[in-house]
Amino acid sequence: MWVRNAWYVAAWSHDVSHAALLPRTIINQPLVLYRKADGSVVALEDRCCHRLAPLSKGRLEQDDLRCMYHGMKFAADGRCIEIPGQDLIPPRAAVKSYPVVERGSWIWVWMGDAGLVDATLIPETIATTDAGWHIKTGYLDYAAHYQLINDNLLDLSHLSFVHEKTLGRNMPQWAGQRPQVTRLDRGVRFQRWFENRPHAHYYGREGETYDLWHSYDFLVPGIFIQRPAWYPPGTAKRMNMQPPTEPPLFVRCDDQAVIAETERTSRYFYATGARSTDATVALADEMFRFTETAFHEDKAIIEAQQKVIDLDPDQPMMSLSSDAGPNLFRGIVKQLVDAEARPPQPARVAEPVALAAAQGN
Ligand code: FES
Ligand SMILES: [Fe+2]
Repeated sequence: MWVRNAWYVAAWSHDVSHAALLPRTIINQPLVLYRKADGSVVALEDRCCHRLAPLSKGRLEQDDLRCMYHGMKFAADGRCIEIPGQDLIPPRAAVKSYPVVERGSWIWVWMGDAGLVDATLIPETIATTDAGWHIKTGYLDYAAHYQLINDNLLDLSHLSFVHEKTLGRNMPQWAGQRPQVTRLDRGVRFQRWFENRPHAHYYGREGETYDLWHSYDFLVPGIFIQRPAWYPPGTAKRMNMQPPTEPPLFVRCDDQAVIAETERTSRYFYATGARSTDATVALADEMFRFTETAFHEDKAIIEAQQKVIDLDPDQPMMSLSSDAGPNLFRGIVKQLVDAEARPPQPARVAEPVALAAAQGN
């Protein structure tokens, strides 16, 4: 089950070039990405319309793509423009072309109805080239359904256990204290204060504490936008545990995207960093390394969970109060999927009988 009418992250900007073809699978659809000579990004169906060979095994010829099975050549808009040994090019000789936007160092591809493309649905993320931030990026491939990864990011109570030696160290509050959960138009917002939190070892502030304003949005189809902010101890109380109105001491950035490839494989893109006014490159690098270690801990438990689920997929799950976020988000996804499955409603016309009556016949 997945939403089609949404922007999916296909790749980091730096992964797509004019020199190579990048194959990706998103919601069971094979894609091939490349850059044209002018730098713009192309996303085509990675499935030749002739014998269904992957075009990513083909060859770029300027801005066009030639299938290297029997040689059909496709323009960047997906139209076939050459068939070796054949003059007639049937109109249906084409592959699907996907709308693409490059923004915030990500390549976003619209996987649904081209008539419903809405670029305002792309969330604001921080580019790796932004001089105001030190950001590092990576990704992990999962042998798991994307909803299990979404669930993990929508319920951070797991930090106290899965990450007891990393992100959740000295922080039983992750599990012991519930965030405020708010429904957004196509997502969920989480907000809470943590008071008197000890600094992680790499900040070099042993013995000092801070108040943490922890806030993040999780958006369809699986985009995690987090900006935790550090404040002097006592700030949370002074703000009456409400959102802060003062400038923070330190802000961190976590932009992530959970992308469904197939029913059992997903890719997890992530960027972590800090404002360049707050952290050196070395500190931001250490923060990234520490965080990436934690992401491997998530992968281990989620892939193990998937194996257990697959033994008996009909086994029900049980909800706890910490599942407010996962349950809300699964409901939003279901609503969108159900709406996409409904046939379009025909335009309303007056009933003939009522019309006849109104005319006095
Ligand atoms: S499969 Fe592509 S040209 Fe035959
Ligand atoms: Fe985690």
